[in-house]
Amino acid sequence: MLLLAAAAFIGSQQCRPCHETVFDAYAKTPMAQSSGRAESIAPASFTAAGHRYQIANNRLIFDGGSAPMDYFIGSNAAGRSFIREREGYLFELPVTWYAQKQSWDASPGYEDHKDVHLTRAVEASCLQCHASRVRPVLGTQNRFGNPPFLENGVACERCHGPGSEHVKDPSKSPMVNPARLDPERRDAVCSQCHLTGEARIERPGRKFAEYRPGDRLSDYATYFVSKMGRRDLKVTSHVEKLAASACKTAAGDALWCGTCHDPHSNADKSQPACLGCHATAHHQQDRCVTCHMPRSQAVDANHGVMTDHSIPKKPSRESQPTLESLTPFLGSGDDRALGLAYAELGDKRAAEYLSRAVPQDWPVQLRLAVLQPDPVRAAQLYESVLRANPYEPAALVNLGTHLARQGRTLEAGRLWDRALLTNPALEEAVLNLTQIRPPKDSRLLLQKYLEINPVSRKALSRLAELPKSQ
Ligand code: HEC
Ligand code: HEC
Ligand code: HEC
Ligand code: HEC
Ligand code: HEC
Ligand code: HEC
Ligand code: HEC
Repeated sequence: MLLLAAAAFIGSQQCRPCHETVFDAYAKTPMAQSSGRAESIAPASFTAAGHRYQIANNRLIFDGGSAPMDYFIGSNAAGRSFIREREGYLFELPVTWYAQKQSWDASPGYEDHKDVHLTRAVEASCLQCHASRVRPVLGTQNRFGNPPFLENGVACERCHGPGSEHVKDPSKSPMVNPARLDPERRDAVCSQCHLTGEARIERPGRKFAEYRPGDRLSDYATYFVSKMGRRDLKVTSHVEKLAASACKTAAGDALWCGTCHDPHSNADKSQPACLGCHATAHHQQDRCVTCHMPRSQAVDANHGVMTDHSIPKKPSRESQPTLESLTPFLGSGDDRALGLAYAELGDKRAAEYLSRAVPQDWPVQLRLAVLQPDPVRAAQLYESVLRANPYEPAALVNLGTHLARQGRTLEAGRLWDRALLTNPALEEAVLNLTQIRPPKDSRLLLQKYLEINPVSRKALSRLAELPKSQ
């Protein structure tokens, strides 16, 4: 066990010499191909969310500018989104290819944007589910090493743990085999990526990124679902849905993702699985899942269709209320976790829980600061956030604004500069700086920002207002 703790991630290629069959089968699965460098994207011309786009030479072209399409996320089993890189900072592009419809459209969450939206930061959490050996740069929101991840897609070691010791001596240093773990640790291997619930809140001082196969997920985070349950499907709702099924409720730990899925080959083992437990069921000659696991629209991936893992008797069409009270699905729902979860969902109940939260660490202070009506008290909270996390972008921007209002522009400027190091596309920080810096510096700041976001109306009009002469 000590050996395992010291082991490092070495990459799937290293497993191939001894596990060739598994390696070759796995390489063809959507999970293995879930991310990579974007190459030779077919030219296209289309409208999405009211904006006209063209794709040519791996660039996305729109009225007012263009952006490179550097990396993709999504194997194309359902769809593919794109990321542009600029000086190591990653941003999600506003269009996605939807495989079922065979067409381009707005990326999930971009449907209602009035302007072409180019500044959505790709944070490490996004890549941690879709890529492996991700290399975020500390002290930034969305900067990564070059390349941003060392391995495309979901690597062997994401389910089996780091392999450096095993490859040296397989018999002395076994890998984690999920199927042999106790049910909680077994399920965690898939849940690390397939479960989000309504909100997932890291425990104080814990990071998802440090989860290793064999660990308990509840040691890292609390996952909340809505008490009423929701019938609409999210792309990461398979775990909750299965948990709600009569099969799982009755069969318990015997039923897990691996009962119906072979993660190495993506083979669908569901028919023998159903019959294994329902030996005397009706319709033995038909595919059970056509009636009992119907496919329907997912709410968070437009045009996506997903399989209903609640295995209902009859498909139901009624729509569900969205947010009732939150209830922990995995992990402990203490005041801190509940407060942070409600805050993330923009729900008023956040304030009460947060005020009672223990510990009052920086994530709590940050949420409290945003909710705090008294600016002086809010500034104190931001200051204490920055003592614990000197690069928290919202705290940097908002504390800067507070100081600038008191005429402390030098200090404010320093905070905004720092905010731009964490993420150069924080428009508010750029615009604020142009209020306090000489025109020449302001012009440079705006030009730099416009290279990322050439359609920003505010930045363009600020640039036009600046005095022309040097
Ligand atoms: C030098 C050859 C070699 C390499 C390289 C190698 N393995 Fe293995 N692996 C073995 C052998 C041999 C066994 C069987 C060990 C045993 O049963 O004692 C094994 C067993 C396993 C098992 C089953 C463990 C269990 O308890 O059921 C897993 C999972 C595994 N390897 C994953 C990997 C992964 C992932 C990599 C790449 C990081 C890898 N192996 C690289 C030789 C290798
Ligand atoms: C590191 C994150 C990660 C882990 C761990 C993980 N998955 Fe996935 N899984 C994904 C992603 C991302 C996709 C979507 C792949 C794509 O199409 O781009 C996916 C897709 C799938 C699919 C759908 C494949 C298809 O045909 O579209 C199945 C089934 C699946 N995973 C099962 C599992 C099971 C079972 C486990 C646990 C043994 C597991 N996954 C562990 C991230 C993960
Ligand atoms: C908690 C893990 C998690 C996070 C975070 C996450 N995803 Fe996913 N994503 C998944 C899983 C799991 C699937 C597969 C669901 C399925 O096949 O039903 C998926 C599916 C997708 C797909 C469709 C892939 C396909 O072809 O099947 C795209 C595109 C995608 N995600 C993009 C993103 C982007 C972009 C981000 C970050 C901004 C992101 N995802 C963040 C887990 C995650
Ligand atoms: C999405 C999670 C996941 C990924 C990725 C994954 N495995 Fe596995 N692997 C499993 C699970 C689950 C089992 C147990 C299967 C069972 O016994 O039901 C397993 C079992 C194994 C075993 C032992 C039993 C067998 O099938 O031979 C080996 C060896 C193995 N995996 C190697 C690999 C290698 C090598 C890779 C990368 C090429 C890889 N695995 C990628 C989940 C995964
Ligand atoms: C690990 C065992 C297990 C597996 C695998 C399994 N079930 Fe079940 N299922 C049960 C048990 C136990 C019950 C509850 C007792 C019963 O109704 O037979 C149940 C209940 C059901 C019900 C009744 C649902 C309700 O709301 O009353 C349906 C329908 C069903 N299963 C269909 C399926 C189908 C289809 C599959 C394959 C996709 C499947 N089951 C796989 C164990 C399992
Ligand atoms: C009782 C059988 C069964 C179990 C258990 C099961 N699945 Fe599935 N799953 C299916 C079937 C059937 C499909 C549809 C496959 C197809 O159409 O090719 C599917 C599809 C998927 C997909 C592809 C996207 C979609 O919704 O169609 C993902 C991702 C997935 N399952 C993840 C999981 C995860 C994670 C678990 C464990 C929490 C799990 N599944 C447990 C039967 C099952
Ligand atoms: C043509 C659609 C269809 C197919 C195929 C089908 N079922 Fe069903 N099944 C139903 C419907 C509808 C019900 C509800 C019947 C009722 O309530 O009278 C049901 C009920 C059930 C129940 C609950 C029985 C009870 O008494 O509550 C189980 C278990 C079940 N099916 C298992 C299976 C299994 C296993 C398969 C595959 C071998 C399968 N079904 C194939 C439509 C189907």
